[in-house]
Amino acid sequence: MAELRAAGQSVGFVPTMGALHAGHCSLIDAARAECDAVVVSIFVNPTQFAPTEDLSQYPRPIEADLAACAECDVAVVFTPTPDEMYTDGAGGGLTTIAVAQLGEGLCGRSRPTHFDGVCTVVAKLLNLVGPDVLYLGQKDFQQAAILKRMVADLDFPVRVNVCPIVREASGLALSSRNVYLDEEIRKKFAPKIYECLQVLAKKISDSAPSGAELRDFADSFFAECTPVFELEYLELLDAETLKPPANKGRNRVLVIAGCFGKTRLIDNVLIECD
Ligand code: PAF
Repeated sequence: MAELRAAGQSVGFVPTMGALHAGHCSLIDAARAECDAVVVSIFVNPTQFAPTEDLSQYPRPIEADLAACAECDVAVVFTPTPDEMYTDGAGGGLTTIAVAQLGEGLCGRSRPTHFDGVCTVVAKLLNLVGPDVLYLGQKDFQQAAILKRMVADLDFPVRVNVCPIVREASGLALSSRNVYLDEEIRKKFAPKIYECLQVLAKKISDSAPSGAELRDFADSFFAECTPVFELEYLELLDAETLKPPANKGRNRVLVIAGCFGKTRLIDNVLIECD
């Protein structure tokens, strides 16, 4: 990476936890289109998993990931171990980066330590890689909002480019966790998540339904998915502050999370102001 910088090449950086799919490839493509060289990190970051979560089961198809990176013309694939990344290995270090407020709601409610782990590892990766542009996926909307704020607050000399969600033909957002879904759920039920967002986004246009109204809508919309789907949240928020939308003339986002058994899926739709 130092050689790339020394050669004056602009560097686009795509941080990943591996199990690469077309969503990651779209980030790599975006980086290749804008920068001289692309760096991808593959690191299943232990500090963003709670002890009850799927760290040990998280898919790690490293050979396939390296082949995908080679095919996408990635200049450097950075695959550190927890011992190389952290002073205390999988335990992390004594220093943690926490972005206040933005991480408290949505996924932060069920995963209270998750975003501190994400921010800390991304800050470390930015220091190690030193990219010009950081590429993130819109699918992890809250993560992207938090990381953009961290970059701004801590003056990381990097531009953040949040790239659109890539979906299966059914509308299901691509995720490394989709492999956990059985065939029937993946084909029949999981696509309802995006369908719900689309129906609501059309209804919302200029109005702002209350949380209770959204919940009622979701209850009837997902009735046919009972008992396989458990809704965790469905909210309409200001796209930057992640607070309830207050002022007109600001982008809003509809965000959803729910579980099919142990598989937790998230999705969102941005509702841009005119
Ligand atoms: O989105 C992810 O895959 C991870 O949260 C990230 C940004 C690579 C940090 O570990």
